[in-house]
Amino acid sequence: MRLKGRILCRGQGLKAASPVAERPMHSHILPMSILKIARMGHPVLSKVASAVKDPTAPEIRRLVADMVETMIDANGAGLAAPQVYVPLRVVVFQAPPERAPEGIDEEESYDHTAELTVLINPEIEILTEETEDGWEGCLSVPGLRGLVPRYTELIYRGVGLDGQVIERRARGFHARVVQHECDHLDGVLYPQRMDDLGELIFESEIRHRIEEDEDGDDE
Ligand code: NI
Repeated sequence: MRLKGRILCRGQGLKAASPVAERPMHSHILPMSILKIARMGHPVLSKVASAVKDPTAPEIRRLVADMVETMIDANGAGLAAPQVYVPLRVVVFQAPPERAPEGIDEEESYDHTAELTVLINPEIEILTEETEDGWEGCLSVPGLRGLVPRYTELIYRGVGLDGQVIERRARGFHARVVQHECDHLDGVLYPQRMDDLGELIFESEIRHRIEEDEDGDDE
C-alpha cells in the first residue's frame, strides 16, 4: 500500500541501505576509532549536511565503522555523521526488541525493531498524522532528556555501504530514532521538536517523571 506522506528528510541520490557489516575480525582493516562528539552549540550540528556522492567509497566505510564504534561506546541508540563533525548524510541506528511494545504480533514486531543499520542519503515518508510523546536523549545534548512528539509510522529509504537500496517501514521507537537521526542531517536537535520546554530535564531527575526506567539511550 502506498500512502501519501511528507518527505521530511531531504535525501538525494537514492540508491540503498543495509545492516552494517559485523565488526571485522581481521586486522588488515585499520582499527576503529572512538570519535569526539559535537555538542549543542557547535555549528556543525545546525547546518544541512551534504549528500554522499559514493556510498561505497572506502572513506565512507571507515566513517561508518568509527561511528558505530563511537555509538556503542557511548551507549547510544543512534548517531548521525554531523555529530562527529562530518557534515554528510549518514546515520547509524538500532531499535532493539526490548524497546518494542509487548503483546504485538510478529509482523508488527518487525516494524518496531531494527538491527544495527547504516543509512546513507536517507529519506523519510511519514505515513500517519498520529504522533506520540516519548523521552529522548542525544549524545550531542549530554545529561538531558526531553519529551518529544514524533510520528508513529513511516517508511525510510536510503543506501547502504554496499550501494544497495534499503526501504523499510518503521513504527514506534524505530520510527522515533529514525526521525531523530535524520533531523541531525537537517541541522535539527530534539529540543527544537519539543512542544513544551518545561519537559526538558536532567536525566538524573527523570525518575520523577516516569515510573519505570524507559528513558533509554541517547540518540
Ligand atoms: Ni541525537
